[in-house]
Amino acid sequence: MKHLISLYDCTTEEIHNFLKLAIKLKKENKEGKTHHILKGKTLGMIFTKSSTRTRVSFEVGMYQLGGQALFLSSNDIQLGRGETIYDTANVLSRYLDGIMIRTYAHQDVLDLAKYGQISIINGLTDYLHPCQILADLQTIYEHKGKLEGLTLSYVGDGNNISNSLLHGCTKVGMNISIASPKGYECDAECIDHAKETAAKTGCKVLLTEDPAEAVSGADIVVTDTWVSMGQESEKQERIKIFGNYTVDDKLFGMAKEDAIFMHCLPAYRGYEVADSVIDGPRSVIFDEAENRLHAQKAVMATLMAD
Ligand code: CP
Ligand code: NVA
Repeated sequence: MKHLISLYDCTTEEIHNFLKLAIKLKKENKEGKTHHILKGKTLGMIFTKSSTRTRVSFEVGMYQLGGQALFLSSNDIQLGRGETIYDTANVLSRYLDGIMIRTYAHQDVLDLAKYGQISIINGLTDYLHPCQILADLQTIYEHKGKLEGLTLSYVGDGNNISNSLLHGCTKVGMNISIASPKGYECDAECIDHAKETAAKTGCKVLLTEDPAEAVSGADIVVTDTWVSMGQESEKQERIKIFGNYTVDDKLFGMAKEDAIFMHCLPAYRGYEVADSVIDGPRSVIFDEAENRLHAQKAVMATLMAD
C-alpha cells in the first residue's frame, strides 16, 4: 500500500492496522516515548483550501515521527499559477518522500499519485476525506470498545465526510444511516460501493430524507457543515433547505441513551448542530480532533517508513 486516497481502496485489515497503530502511537506519545519511525523523511503539504486541524496535525505528526513537513500553499507554489500536476508530481518526487494534498478536484489527487513516485495522502477533496474518517473510527473504538455491529447515523449534507463515512463504516462492519434532503444526497458511486462492501461485511446501509428515521437507535450521531469549502455562494439557499436537519436535543434524544455526538469541525453552532448537543456531555468532538494526529501518524508511518 503506497497511497491513502480513499478508504474504499483499503481492505478491512488495512483499516484495522491503521487503527491499532494509531492507538499504540497515541499511548506511547502520552507516556513520553519517542518513536522516530520517519527520521530523515519529508512530507510536502499542498493546500488549496483552508485548514486548522489537517495542517497542524500533519505537521506535528511528522515532527513527532522524527521527520520534516513543508507547508506548500497553492498561492505560493507554481501549481497555483498553472504548472501542471504532471510536472509538479515529478519534481516533488525528487525532493520528498510523501505529499499530503487538500484540494477541490479529487482527480488532481489521483493524478499526483499516477504521475509521482512517492506516497500521496488525501487531506480532503470535494469528494472524500479519508483521514478524518480514520480518526473518527479510532474515536468510536475508544468510546465504544468495538466497531462492528454499531450503528452510525449521519444527518445533513451528502459531502466528502458522509461519502468517506459510507466507505469507512461499511469496511469495518458498522451499520450506517444517512438522512439528507432530496438533491443533496451522497455520491451515487460511494453509495454503490458502500452497499457492495456492506454485503460482504454483514452490515446495513440506510438512506432516507427523514432525520428521525436515520437517528432512531443510533450509537453515534454525526453531522457536518451545510456549506462546505467552495460552496459559500450557496449559503443562503442551503440554510433554507437544511432547516429541518439540525441535530438538536430532540433529534439526538432519538438515538440510544449512551449515543455519542461527533463532528469533524469546523462547526457552525445553531445551524447543523445545537449548542446543547455539541457542547453537551456526550459530545466527543475534541477527542475526535485529537485523533487526527494519531491516525495520520499511523498512516504516514505505514506508507512512508522504509
Ligand atoms: N476536520 C478538518 O479537516 O478540519 P480542518 O479543515 O481544520 O483541517
Ligand atoms: N465538508 C467540510 C469538511 C471540512 C473539514 C468541507 O469540505 O468544507
